[in-house]
Amino acid sequence: MNTLVATTNMNNMYRRQRHFYDATRKFYLLGRDMLIDGLKAGPQHAVLEIGCGTARNLIIAGDRYPQARLFGIDVSTEMLETAIKKVDRAGLAGRVRVAHADAVKFDPQRIFGQGRFDRIFMSYCLSMIPDWRAALDFAAALLAPDGELHIVDFGHQERLPGFVATGMRWWLGSFSVVPRRELEAYLIELAMRQGALLSFARPYRSYAQYAVLRRASLPIARQRAGHAAA
Ligand SMILES: C[S@@+](CC[C@H](N)C(=O)[O-])C[C@H]1O[C@@H](n2cnc3c(N)ncnc32)[C@H](O)[C@@H]1O
Repeated sequence: MNTLVATTNMNNMYRRQRHFYDATRKFYLLGRDMLIDGLKAGPQHAVLEIGCGTARNLIIAGDRYPQARLFGIDVSTEMLETAIKKVDRAGLAGRVRVAHADAVKFDPQRIFGQGRFDRIFMSYCLSMIPDWRAALDFAAALLAPDGELHIVDFGHQERLPGFVATGMRWWLGSFSVVPRRELEAYLIELAMRQGALLSFARPYRSYAQYAVLRRASLPIARQRAGHAAA
């Protein structure tokens, strides 16, 4: 899907919803605060949210990690309009920057003057990106050495009662949201390709999926040899 089509689709989706998005989503976009806690961004770390929506997460991360530099991209210009207002209202305009871009391919150096990031996160956006594998590949390639990619999204929900899971899938489908069943398998493949470490969980009785991909600055084999020698 090209960026213009993605922008049109997401603008149609969020043109009205963005006005009550944060008030409603807090009940069902579970795990976002857990992800922010897990970022553990250090002083001067560059942190990027891909699919930042209304900037709700960036604003919380800005409070939690006062010395980090925060960036967000989103394909929806409607969402970005809300994000800019909220960042401004939160007094974070000097430290949080957002821009229009497509998760599948963008040039952060051109947009933000920053080519690599210490932390990248994707919160409930992969389930809305048709080419989500390409978006993951692209995000992983933007990690600085020792950088981490944190992901939270809808899970398979197989540990929820059947009628709840079926109802959820139907309801999510009406928002063009498709839980990515193959997320764990694809992240394992990506971690192997990148020589990265992966942790993966299915919190909230499998309602969500939560993953952290850690890019090692040394190849994994050399790290293991270092541990063995120590
Ligand atoms: C469910 S919202 C999540 C927003 C935010 N991450 C949060 O946790 O509140 C999904 C966001 O992903 C954005 N999005 C969808 N496809 C995208 C793409 N190809 N590139 C960048 N953002 C995209 C949407 O515009 C929307 O803002």
